[in-house]
Amino acid sequence: MSIIQPKEKPEDEKLDYALRPESLNDFIGQEKIKKNIEIFIAAAKKRGEPIEHTLLHGPAGLGKTTLAHIIAKEFKSNIKITSGPAIEKVGDLGAILSSLEDGDILFIDEIHRLNKLIEEVLYPAMEDFALDIIIGKGPSARTLRLNLPRFTLIGATTRIGLLTSPLLNRFGSTFHLNFYSHDDIELIIKRSSKLLKIDIDSEAIKTVSRSSRFTPRIANRLLKRVRDYAEIKNNGVVTKNIVEEAFKMLEVDHLGLEATDRMILEIIINKFSGGPVGIQTMAAASHEDEETISDIYEPYLLQMGLLDRTGRGRVATKAAYEHLGIKWPGEGLL
Ligand SMILES: Nc1ncnc2c1ncn2[C@@H]1O[C@H](COP(=O)(O)OP(=O)(O)OP(=O)(O)O)[C@@H](O)[C@H]1O
Ligand SMILES: [Mg+2]
Repeated sequence: MSIIQPKEKPEDEKLDYALRPESLNDFIGQEKIKKNIEIFIAAAKKRGEPIEHTLLHGPAGLGKTTLAHIIAKEFKSNIKITSGPAIEKVGDLGAILSSLEDGDILFIDEIHRLNKLIEEVLYPAMEDFALDIIIGKGPSARTLRLNLPRFTLIGATTRIGLLTSPLLNRFGSTFHLNFYSHDDIELIIKRSSKLLKIDIDSEAIKTVSRSSRFTPRIANRLLKRVRDYAEIKNNGVVTKNIVEEAFKMLEVDHLGLEATDRMILEIIINKFSGGPVGIQTMAAASHEDEETISDIYEPYLLQMGLLDRTGRGRVATKAAYEHLGIKWPGEGLL
């Protein structure tokens, strides 16, 4: 199974839980977002009101769930957790909403996967703290409006483009989590090593960071694999050499690419003379589904400048040829 796939896997649950920062001070990086959150929490406290509805969006594994928990903790609120796909019927959402109390936080993960009919129940709930219930059927149907407690909705999504504008408009603040810098990832690895009591030097930390795809979840996952390797090969001591050996075994290279990333680039280069190739063709040739390519592999390859997106499809860049050790055919041939 892919190690660099940033989506949460069952094996991450324990690790995520153990390493999850619990306060804004503990949360590394994303300085602008932290400042904003600090201010809106302080302002809400001063006014004696609940926090405004908040949307957190950005790639998987960057800290959306973590931030939702931190906001609840800093505001001393109860947090109820659910997700778009878990709410199957209008009644499910009704039941959740009416079980809330004043000042509670409702966290809806993967909010882009909420069914549109259910989404409509959220509009009056978010705006007026009201739940409209339809009683009866046909011409005699009536709407009954129930008052809800003043709760705060925190939504999280990796795909903000799929949210409808009426839903988007009802959030008081929207925060976009960006990929982390190498410095921040190094600090995260340092913090995690301390918590997990891993003996690791700064060169080794740098090496793990470089392959972490700017993503805390991947950094923690790689750190754990490296520790396992070090326990068997080096009495648990993690050095740069040990990291490099472990990554070789895991087929993760120094840019954080794994076999599938390299296969995608190789397909473009070898089967399609460097591109352009449409995403559907790429999916068919690599036996990966389109969504996995566009959500998981492509963003990082684009970010690293190994892939270019053109109107006619994806093109492998000169850097991709160099990384794979394939001779660059020159600008003119593409
Ligand atoms: N800023 C940070 N500082 C330290 N650790 C972090 C930070 N952000 C995330 N992490 C670590 O990464 C793990 C994954 O973060 P989290 O579960 O919040 O990501 P997410 O954005 O909710 O991902 P998904 O989209 O898959 O739900 C956390 O458990 C935590 O250990
Ligand atoms: Mg999450």
